[in-house]
Amino acid sequence: MILVTGATGHIGGAVVRGLLALSHEVAALVRNPEAARRRLPRQTALRVGDYEDAPALKQAFTGIDELVLISSDGDAGAIQRHHANAIEAARAADVRHITFTSIIDVGETSPFYYAPAYRDAEHRLANCGVPSTILRCGLYSDFILDTWLTPALASGELALPAGHGMMAPVSRDDVAAAITAVAAMPDKSRALYSITGGQVMDFDEIATCYAETTGQPLRYRPCSASEYLASATARLDEPWPEAFATLCASIAEGRYASASSDFSALTDRPAESFKAFLARVFS
Ligand SMILES: NC(=O)c1ccc[n+]([C@@H]2O[C@H](COP(=O)([O-])OP(=O)(O)OC[C@H]3O[C@@H](n4cnc5c(N)ncnc54)[C@H](OP(=O)(O)O)[C@@H]3O)[C@@H](O)[C@H]2O)c1
Repeated sequence: MILVTGATGHIGGAVVRGLLALSHEVAALVRNPEAARRRLPRQTALRVGDYEDAPALKQAFTGIDELVLISSDGDAGAIQRHHANAIEAARAADVRHITFTSIIDVGETSPFYYAPAYRDAEHRLANCGVPSTILRCGLYSDFILDTWLTPALASGELALPAGHGMMAPVSRDDVAAAITAVAAMPDKSRALYSITGGQVMDFDEIATCYAETTGQPLRYRPCSASEYLASATARLDEPWPEAFATLCASIAEGRYASASSDFSALTDRPAESFKAFLARVFS
């Protein structure tokens, strides 16, 4: 039995559907069973629990062989606590293996707001006694579109403190396909994968790609962190201005600048390019 967390979300839901299509027995960790019932295939077993509720997590994970732990969201303190609770509950419930979605940029010197929380989860996984596989994921194409490109349309200018740093965007659907492949794999001896798109590009190229696909003018302008923070704090709640500004700093430092072949090796196909992703979304 494979249990998927975050199953009412984009990636978790796609992993549930992918594993069911491969004829696995699948359970989903959900907070609201009625809402989950509407969103997930009928044959999905529902286990109820919140990442904040450690006893409920242990009960939900009882009898589970494989835990697919989709990373949580919120401020860094909450994320760190949620992952710690889930990993400890998996250990206490005698789960046999954990697949976890981490991030590419977990370096000790990373400026990224979330890097310490993900380092903490990776450290806990290495020391909890349950074998695990970590998928370090690059930036989601969907995240780049929703967080940065769409809001920039009104002005036609994408101003970010990312310099000419490169990244290899990967779609959430492809991340889900990679997680599904790892969770379904009988041999889980490999401990670490990097899940990125196949091509690296900077925000100049991303903005050009967007303008060509949609016909809407968009131009990238590198700006300072203080300029970005001034405009982001006027629009966004905490912790997003700091989280996004430090993510841009990390991109500028080249921490997202490599494309891995792990996705193709896992799925036997190339990752969807950013251009193809946009064409799909705007078709
Ligand atoms: N690499 C990137 O570019 C990038 C960008 C953004 C996010 N991420 C990470 O990727 C993860 C998955 O992305 P996504 O698009 O699939 O997210 P999503 O659609 O927002 O789904 C998040 C899921 O987490 C569940 N969840 C949230 N808080 C929870 C809690 N306290 N206890 C139990 N479940 C909880 C939600 O359940 P409910 O339906 O009950 O709310 C939902 O099922 C995110 O959570 C985030 O960690 C990565």
